[in-house]
Amino acid sequence: MRVNVNKNVIEKIEDLRARIRYHDGKYYVENMPEIADYDYDQLMKELARLESSYPQFITPDSPTQRVGGEPVSEFTPLEHRIPMLSIENTYTEEELREFDKRIRRMLKSERQDDLSAHLNNVVGQASAQTDSVGPVDEIEYVVEHKIDGVAITLWYENGVFTRGATRGNGFRGDDVTANLRTVKDIPLRFLCATHIRIPPVIEIRGEIYLSNKDFQVLNQRREEEGGPQFANPRNAAAGSLKLLDPQTTAKRPLRLFAYSFGYGGNSKFTNHIECLETIGKYGFPVNPHYKLCKNIDEAVSYCNSWESRRDELDYQVDGIVIKVNSLELHDRLGSTSKAPRWIISYKYQPEEAITTIEAITVQVGKTGVLTPVAELIPVPLSGTTVSRASLHNFDEIERKDVRVGDYVVVRKAGEIIPQVVKVLKEKRTGNEKRFDLPKRCPACQSDVIKEEVSLKCYNPQCAAQVKRKIIYFASRNAMDIDGLGPALVEQLVDNKIINDYADIYSLEFDDLVSLERMGEKSAQNLIDAVAESKARDLHLLICALGIQNIGSHAAEVLSKHFGTLDKLMNASAEELEEIFEIGNIMAKSVIDFFSNSHTQDVINKLKAAGVNLSAISKETKRSSHIEEKSFVVTGTLNGYTRKEIEDIIKNLGGKVSSSVSGKTDFLVAGESPGSKLEKAEKLEITILDQKKFEELINE
Ligand code: IVH
Repeated sequence: MRVNVNKNVIEKIEDLRARIRYHDGKYYVENMPEIADYDYDQLMKELARLESSYPQFITPDSPTQRVGGEPVSEFTPLEHRIPMLSIENTYTEEELREFDKRIRRMLKSERQDDLSAHLNNVVGQASAQTDSVGPVDEIEYVVEHKIDGVAITLWYENGVFTRGATRGNGFRGDDVTANLRTVKDIPLRFLCATHIRIPPVIEIRGEIYLSNKDFQVLNQRREEEGGPQFANPRNAAAGSLKLLDPQTTAKRPLRLFAYSFGYGGNSKFTNHIECLETIGKYGFPVNPHYKLCKNIDEAVSYCNSWESRRDELDYQVDGIVIKVNSLELHDRLGSTSKAPRWIISYKYQPEEAITTIEAITVQVGKTGVLTPVAELIPVPLSGTTVSRASLHNFDEIERKDVRVGDYVVVRKAGEIIPQVVKVLKEKRTGNEKRFDLPKRCPACQSDVIKEEVSLKCYNPQCAAQVKRKIIYFASRNAMDIDGLGPALVEQLVDNKIINDYADIYSLEFDDLVSLERMGEKSAQNLIDAVAESKARDLHLLICALGIQNIGSHAAEVLSKHFGTLDKLMNASAEELEEIFEIGNIMAKSVIDFFSNSHTQDVINKLKAAGVNLSAISKETKRSSHIEEKSFVVTGTLNGYTRKEIEDIIKNLGGKVSSSVSGKTDFLVAGESPGSKLEKAEKLEITILDQKKFEELINE
C-alpha cells in the first residue's frame, strides 16, 4: 500500500517537473510562453508542496531548486556578480499580510536572540524573559509597478556603460550589450546630477519593455510586411533583445525602467527610496508611480488602487512589487535560494473570460495574408465587450484543436488583443465542427497559396486587399487623410466609386454626399483633407504605397537616398541593395512592386492628380532658444501630430528624446500628458503648454 502511495507521488512529481521544464523552455528559450504566469506558478506551488511533504524525492535538478531558465546559446554567457533572484508571487491580500507578519516574526525572533545573547553576556546565564521583547514596529514598504518586460542588468565602469545582460538562469545570463546600446533610455554614461560619488564598478538593474502603443505599431508593421505577430509586448521586447543583429533591435522602440542597484550600489544608502531617487539622478528612467507606504495597510490599498487602473498605463504591469524600504532590513532578512525575503509581488489575475465560438472567419490583409478570427458570443472582459479574438494563423487552430461551437477561455493578451487561450474540451457535446482550411480567398474566391506559415491570396484586384491598401494609404503614418477611415473606404469600394488609392484624388463632392451617413460638411472636409494630402513629403508617399517589407523607416531611407519617386522607380536591385539598411529582400520587394503594370497605372494617376513626388528639402533654421536643447513631447497638441512637433523642434536645431531625464531641458505637455509630466515636475524641468511652446518656436 505504502509503495503504491509513493509510486503515485513520484509519478505526480515527475509529471509536474516535466510540465514545468517544458514551459520553462517555451518562456525562457523560445520566448513563446504557452501558459499564463499564474498557471505556471500553480504548477510550481503544487510541486513545492509535494516536495515539502515528501522531501526524500527532492532532486538537485528539480525546477524548485533553481532560479529560472537557461540562456539561449547564440549569446556569450555573462556571470552575474550578484545573482538575479526572482520574487515570490502572491495573489491575495491575505498572502500579502502574511508576508508582513512573516517579516515581523523573523525580526522579532532575531531580536529575542540578540537579547538572549546580550543577557548571556551581561548576566552570564540564558534568560527566559522573552516577554520583554515588544512587538516589532510597523514596516515601511516601497510599492512599485511590476513591469511586464524583460529583466536586465547593466554594468558601468567609472560611470560608463560597458556590459549588459539578461537574467538567464539567475546566475548567468546572455550578454546582450550590443542590443542594449541601441536602447535610448539606457544612458551610455552616468549623468552626474548628484553629489554622490559614483563607485568605480556599479550595476543598475531594471526592466526592458515596449509601450502598448509601440507594440501595436510594431505588430501592425509586421502584419503589413507579412511577418508573424508578437502575442504581447513582453514577448516583443524579449524577442527584440535577443535578435542577433543590433541594427534590427535599434528599430524596435525598447524602453527601460530602472528599479534597483545590483553590485556596488546600495552601500551609500539607508533605504530603497534613496536608491530609486539616485538612480533617477544618474540619468535612468525610474517608473514614477512608486510610493512609500508606512505600513502593510497602506501598501495593500495602493496595490488595490492600481488593479482597476492599470488600463490607464501605456505599458504592461502584471502586478505590484512590495519592497521593504530599509536596506539594513534587507541584509537582516536575507534571501532564500530563489528570492529575497524583503520583497514580494502581488500579481494581478490575468483577465480572462469564458465564451463560445460561433464561427471562424477569415480576414484578408493588405498583402493578401489570410488570418483566422474567432467570432465569439460577446463577453465582458477588462472593461470592454469582446466579440472577436485572434487565432493568429491556421497552424494554431490545429495545434489548439479549436472548433466552431467550442467553449473557450479568452484573454486580453497584454490587455490589448483578445486571444483564444484554450479550448474547454470537457465541455464538448460532440456537435462542434472542425474548421477546414480555406482553399479560396473569402473576398475574391481566387485560389490561395501556402507561403511558409501563411496562406495568401495573390489576386491584386481582390476587394479585401484593395480596401486594406486604401485604408493604409490614408492612415496616420502614411498620407494621413483625416476622415477616410475603414467604414468609408468599405462604402467607396463596394459602390465602385474608387478601385485603388489613386482614385481618392478624383473623388468629387457629389460622390460623397450621396453616400449613407455622409453630410455635406463631412464631404467637404474630406475633399479638403484629400487635397491637403497631395503635398505630403515623399517618404510618407513611399510608405503609403504599401510595398511589401517597406515600412515607415525604410521609406524614409529610400526617400533620402533617391529624392524623387521617379528615381526610386528606375533603381536597379543592385543599386537598392547597396543602400545601408536596405537588404536584398526589401530590394526585391521594391523591384517587384514597381515592375507590376497595375502599379504603374496607379502611379500615373497619382502623378496626374498632382501628388507631390519629391522629398521636401528641409532647410534647417536655427533658434538660439532651441538649438542643442533637449525636448520631450507628451500628450496631444491641437493641430499638430506628434511627428510634426518633433520635426519643428529638430528643424530649429533642438533634440527630441522619448523619455524625461535630468538631461531634458523642456517638456512639451499637451492634453492628457501622462506620467512624463509628473516626472518632469519632480525633476523641476521647464514645462511648456501649447501656448508657451508656440511662443518659443515663433521667437
Ligand atoms: S526588483 C529579486 N522591481 O519581476 C528581484 N523587479 O518576477 C528584485 N520586475 O526579475 C527585482 N518590475 O525583472 C523589481 N519594480 C520592480 C519590477 C521588477 C518588474 C521583474 C524583475 C524580476 C521579475 C520577477
